[in-house]
Amino acid sequence: MRITLSVIKADVGGYVGHSSMHEALMERAREILEKEKGRLIIDFHVTRVGDDLQLIMTHTRGEDNEEVHRLAWDIFEECTKVAKEMKLYGAGQDLLADAFSGNVRGMGPGVAEMSFEERPSEPVIIFMADKTSAGAWNLPLYRIFADPFNTIGLVIAENMHTGFSFEVHDVKEGKKIIFNAPEEIYDMLVFLGAPTRYMIKAVYHRENGDIAAVASTQRLALVAGRYVGKDDPVCIVRTQGHFPAVGEVLEPFTKPHLVEGWMRGSHYGPLMPVPVRDANPSRFDGPPRVIALGFQLSDGKLIGPRDMFDDPAFDEARRVANILADIMRSHGPFEPHRLPLEEMEYTTMPQVMKKLEGRFSPIE
Ligand code: 13P
Ligand code: 13P
Ligand code: MG
Ligand code: MG
Repeated sequence: MRITLSVIKADVGGYVGHSSMHEALMERAREILEKEKGRLIIDFHVTRVGDDLQLIMTHTRGEDNEEVHRLAWDIFEECTKVAKEMKLYGAGQDLLADAFSGNVRGMGPGVAEMSFEERPSEPVIIFMADKTSAGAWNLPLYRIFADPFNTIGLVIAENMHTGFSFEVHDVKEGKKIIFNAPEEIYDMLVFLGAPTRYMIKAVYHRENGDIAAVASTQRLALVAGRYVGKDDPVCIVRTQGHFPAVGEVLEPFTKPHLVEGWMRGSHYGPLMPVPVRDANPSRFDGPPRVIALGFQLSDGKLIGPRDMFDDPAFDEARRVANILADIMRSHGPFEPHRLPLEEMEYTTMPQVMKKLEGRFSPIE
């Protein structure tokens, strides 16, 4: 059975501030999706990470399907109404267009979708992050699909030994390129190591071309031309069989890496893996959080979720993330905590420059 798994998300209002989501928004989303279950969609799960509403849906209509995208857009609009009634923070934050026009891409919401023939057993993991941006997946996806120190399957599993190929997008120029791992990893890392511009869009199994992972790569600032909140990203990963095992897919998150985002979308901070109940970034609006929900698909039905970071084995990663958070915070308004000027989501630089214009003179 060919199934499409769609994860479509948007920030339609925060509670309190940008820290979390009011239950009423998720209830409204569930109500609407329940009506479409068995019609437009096979199954769904609604969750949230921080202030981002996550619609996880299965169907057979393929990617970029107008009806499915319209459903998501309508839900975001309905939930925005609820958010406005309660005067929640930033109601409708990520809805950048006034009306739906065929596809939510480029309209504000983040999207990760993949279609595949469901295997006899189809375990998938959906990663969702808040207070960061799409480039946050580059490092973990590299580790999962190209690093034998993370994924022993690349070395000892015959059905993975040929490696994976990576579709990398240049989000500033609107270009893409495919790299083959392992033989092109040095070339590939030149780009992946610069995740503000180059982002992994998808990963494929080399031998059979099967889709292994797909990420959202929307950059809201590039869509809107101004700061409108971070592009809090999502990523779907298929696991087991000829893909990395569940434990190999989760392993990169035991070493928190620094990502852009956090307060005002303008800082570097550690990505902390947490269960859903702890996905409420409150300290300096952070530090950035990632949740991982695991499902078994059964004819498109979502069996689950299992809250994969709800495991004491990730306690140490959370502790290290807190230590890193302290170290970064101690820099206050200085780089490398603050983003470099050209990456700043918001900055007073133009106004300050204008004010001081006459006071700059050449250095002798
Ligand atoms: P599979 O070959 O079933 O994917 O098993 C590998 C595994 O789960 C080891 O952790
Ligand atoms: P969100 O992108 O999660 O809405 O956060 C925005 C922000 O400015 C946090 O300080
Ligand atoms: Mg917000
Ligand atoms: Mg958010």
